[in-house]
Amino acid sequence: MSDKTNNTSYTQVSIDNSGIDPQTNFSVNPTFAAIVQSRMARRRFLKGSVGAAVAAIIGSSLTACSSSDSEPDPAPVVPPVAEAPLLGFAAVAAGRADTVVVPEGYSASVLLPWGTPLTADYPAYLTDASNSGSEQEQQVGMHHDGMHFFPIDTRNSGSSSTEGLLVFNHEYIDHKLIHPNGIDTVPRIADQVRKEIAAHGVSVAHIQQQTDGSWQLVNNSPFNRRITGATPMELAGPVRGSSKVVTKYSPDGSRTRGTLNNCGNGFTPWGTYLTCEENWAGYFVNTDAEPPREHRRYGVSASNGRYLWETATPAAEQYQRFNASSSGEAASDDYRNEPNTFGWIVEIDPFNPDSVPQKRTALGRFGHEGIIFGKLEEGKPLVLYSGDDARFEYIYKFVSAAPYFQNTAGGHLLNEGTLYVARFNDDGSGDWLPLDINNSDFMAKATAAGVEFADQADILLNTRLAADVAGATKMDRPEWGAVHPDTGEVYFTLTNNTARTEQQTDAANPRAANATGHIIRWHERDTQEAQAFDWDIFLLAGDVGTETPDTELTLTADNHLASPDGLWFDKNGLLWIQTDMSGSQQGEGPFGNNQMLVADPVTRQMKRFLVGPHDCEVTGISATPDMKTLFVNIQHPGDRSTPTDFTSHWPDGGSNRPRSATVVITKDDGGVIGS
Ligand code: FEO
Ligand code: CA
Ligand code: CA
Repeated sequence: MSDKTNNTSYTQVSIDNSGIDPQTNFSVNPTFAAIVQSRMARRRFLKGSVGAAVAAIIGSSLTACSSSDSEPDPAPVVPPVAEAPLLGFAAVAAGRADTVVVPEGYSASVLLPWGTPLTADYPAYLTDASNSGSEQEQQVGMHHDGMHFFPIDTRNSGSSSTEGLLVFNHEYIDHKLIHPNGIDTVPRIADQVRKEIAAHGVSVAHIQQQTDGSWQLVNNSPFNRRITGATPMELAGPVRGSSKVVTKYSPDGSRTRGTLNNCGNGFTPWGTYLTCEENWAGYFVNTDAEPPREHRRYGVSASNGRYLWETATPAAEQYQRFNASSSGEAASDDYRNEPNTFGWIVEIDPFNPDSVPQKRTALGRFGHEGIIFGKLEEGKPLVLYSGDDARFEYIYKFVSAAPYFQNTAGGHLLNEGTLYVARFNDDGSGDWLPLDINNSDFMAKATAAGVEFADQADILLNTRLAADVAGATKMDRPEWGAVHPDTGEVYFTLTNNTARTEQQTDAANPRAANATGHIIRWHERDTQEAQAFDWDIFLLAGDVGTETPDTELTLTADNHLASPDGLWFDKNGLLWIQTDMSGSQQGEGPFGNNQMLVADPVTRQMKRFLVGPHDCEVTGISATPDMKTLFVNIQHPGDRSTPTDFTSHWPDGGSNRPRSATVVITKDDGGVIGS
């Protein structure tokens, strides 16, 4: 931490807010170090070959697919449809201004910053951050992240581009900015803890475009809602009712309270929102000498919760639940299983303000970054992908047991199915390895590893361990995924992993000390639910001149980047890439502030579209159906502030404290975004 010490009381509390990618995978899974002929070497060999030439003509598709007689041809790419040539704008230069910069001919405005009055009494945001806990429960939360725009007529198969529900995550809080003097005392003051829990979760905001083109919150709309780290929720799927999710709050193991560290998101074809619990483990403490594997493998702290909520005074059980130790004071309330009710994908129905969010346990328990659906095919299973964002963790795929039919689709499809984990083979092929109590190969591997699973709930509660056992490929921090709307190709960001050694490199994670990250992509063999795929590397991020051999894409001043994170395909087939560089990477490197770029995988063009303000992350993206309004989130501007010294004043300017907010981007001529 680089906290300044000019506030004496502030130094009493040392909070590590930087631990966003804890490494807890010390399993001995293969990293392909022993494989003699690396895939990259093979790629270099193929350069100039017939296979590469064919791939160059085809353009968008996997080079690997064209480079071997034994592999299927890539699917053809449907040309994008837009009113004007895509990527027609002039690239934005890398920079370090304390503002949002978009291309000439585009405009950006601010919507729904942290503290915006959203519900009930509509308490005004107080610029000194002195709002109470109950006020925060009625205001937009902190640290905007994943987001989706639902047209207001979604349930009537409509596609309004002027009115809808904007649903967005609040990943975590800035402990130096959320109160007038930051977090400055231990034990913690109960109302401060209440406020911090309320600043997490999800906001549902009914918004409408005005006649002047601007977007505004619809005050008093019944849809406006806050879901927080305290909102009652249900556990759904195989883990519901397991003895390992029984708590004092829910003796039958069916319920829990709150969702935490909501990073990326997804949305379902039936009009609901999916929020993802990423670094939830840090909020809990377990001081036991030997914590259970459900805690240990996820990094539940042995010393204190991230914001020390468990110390809230006066003590109350809704705060003590963050202490999951089996002995001591907490044991009398018995929240040993509380952390087991986190680490899930949570489904929220934004069109029913009374709906109870459902934690979809069949999708596995890990540090869910985001969730993305494969292409929808009537009568075929649903396919979803999710990455586990921590160093050396994995990428997963869920295939529903029941087929998808548009007329009957609903959350029940997410309660039963098969969870797979990815193994990226050195030769450009890949395998989906089932984590399934009924799969004899998997169970034999578990037995050989000395690991016992009692039932499918046990496997899901210990998804990371199950993936270790299966022999999955350890990745460089899987963040968001995106599925090409026409080809179904899946792209995934691997943001960085400086801990990877030369000996640990493999074909899918080819760089040691990978500080700048990369983007991998694959194409399922034959059908989406297939258990085999073919992959290549779309982009190696880095400075000007960095080349990605697989796609022959070379970075320039118009598009160099580091630490790709957010990822989204728009309906025209453009791939939007958002960065989450660390403070030092922004401050010292060639990249400037965090940014958003847009790539056309067909033409292999890529341009920088947006640069954010000081010390922010650019994350979360959605658009109106007509692609004429783009919503992007700016998270934690002024990340390196202290309670008395702000390193950004965005978006309010002057000497104001920085606030996370949504940015609304339109084209001045009313055209399609990205043209
Ligand atoms: Fe919350 Fe992995 O970024
Ligand atoms: Ca992220
Ligand atoms: Ca990140």
